[in-house]
Amino acid sequence: MSLKLAVIGGDGVGPEVTAQALRVLEAASSATGLKTHTFDFPFSADHFLETGHVLDESDILALREYDAIVLGAVGGKPNDPRLAGGVIEKGILLRLRFELDQYINLRPVKLYPGIDTPLANKTSDDIDFVCVRENTEDLYCGLGGIMRKGTPREVANQTMVATRFGVERCVRYAFELARTRPRKHLTLVHKTNVLNFAGDTWHRAFEEIATEYDDVTTAYNHVDACCMFMVAKPEVYDVIVVPNMFGDIITDLGAAIAGGMGIAASGNLNPDGAAPSMFEPVHGSAPDIAGQNLANPIAAIDSMGLLLREVGRIKDDASAVKTGEMIGAAVQASTPNFAGKGLDRSGYKCDEVGSMIIDALG
Ligand code: IPM
Ligand code: MN
Repeated sequence: MSLKLAVIGGDGVGPEVTAQALRVLEAASSATGLKTHTFDFPFSADHFLETGHVLDESDILALREYDAIVLGAVGGKPNDPRLAGGVIEKGILLRLRFELDQYINLRPVKLYPGIDTPLANKTSDDIDFVCVRENTEDLYCGLGGIMRKGTPREVANQTMVATRFGVERCVRYAFELARTRPRKHLTLVHKTNVLNFAGDTWHRAFEEIATEYDDVTTAYNHVDACCMFMVAKPEVYDVIVVPNMFGDIITDLGAAIAGGMGIAASGNLNPDGAAPSMFEPVHGSAPDIAGQNLANPIAAIDSMGLLLREVGRIKDDASAVKTGEMIGAAVQASTPNFAGKGLDRSGYKCDEVGSMIIDALG
């Protein structure tokens, strides 16, 4: 069996970090015997500016034929008027998440050995949790509008959506994940004291589903308190389940406490395997450092490890799982090289980090 991967390198540093992830994939799979083949797709802000094409129905049909999607980063320079209104973010990233029904955004927050955290007195033992971010609803639905635009009586609204179906499948995923972890502890993060409608749907679904998981302990935090705990006592978290917008915000904070955006990996999962999942570093295209071999590829490489483990699970392919585990282990074996070197890794180049991880594959 051969894995078919669609590759969207995207903009800015996206292609650079993706190239390193593909190098590591090649090295790891030649060791395990996993067969893969990749195909490049051009979707990006650059492609849009050149051709006027963002992403259409036929592109989505083409992507559906793959086992998974490897995404670097999409997005152009900030304040480019030609890209206003999130044409790329909505037109590529969110569209794929929605159309491929990637309803889980899985974002591990783990302080790897040797990586510096900005939190004083916190170690790898304290910072080790996973955020399960709902990925298809909430404020991301694009519902709302502006009336009387440009007048003093302008009115804008933007609607938060929580469906029982969408909430329930996400909460169930989080309970199942918590069950596989040693601590088996799941925290719901919301803002039920203010968002008494959407929050109520989340809260009731969470409480009801919890009765099916006697082995998992539960907690609830308002999102503002969660931000405080993530900084002051991150050790309270094991698995967090959170709606889309709050999840977006707290996972940037999560990336920061675990060593920065260059480290944070993610998977946009369709856990049922009904459509391909998509794996990407949490960071963006970072146009300010693009093309200089400066970006940290760890997030992209670690995302490749997540991809192989997830696709291996869905396709019941042990060699994919093994290759993914090998990549995850190599990442964590290489991070002690950064000890004491600060968040910028003091001069390691993007491709040097790739080589370091290839060496660590053993
Ligand atoms: C992320 C990003 C996206 C999001 C943007 C680019 C639309 O911030 O993946 O976290 O908000 O989900
Ligand atoms: Mn984000």
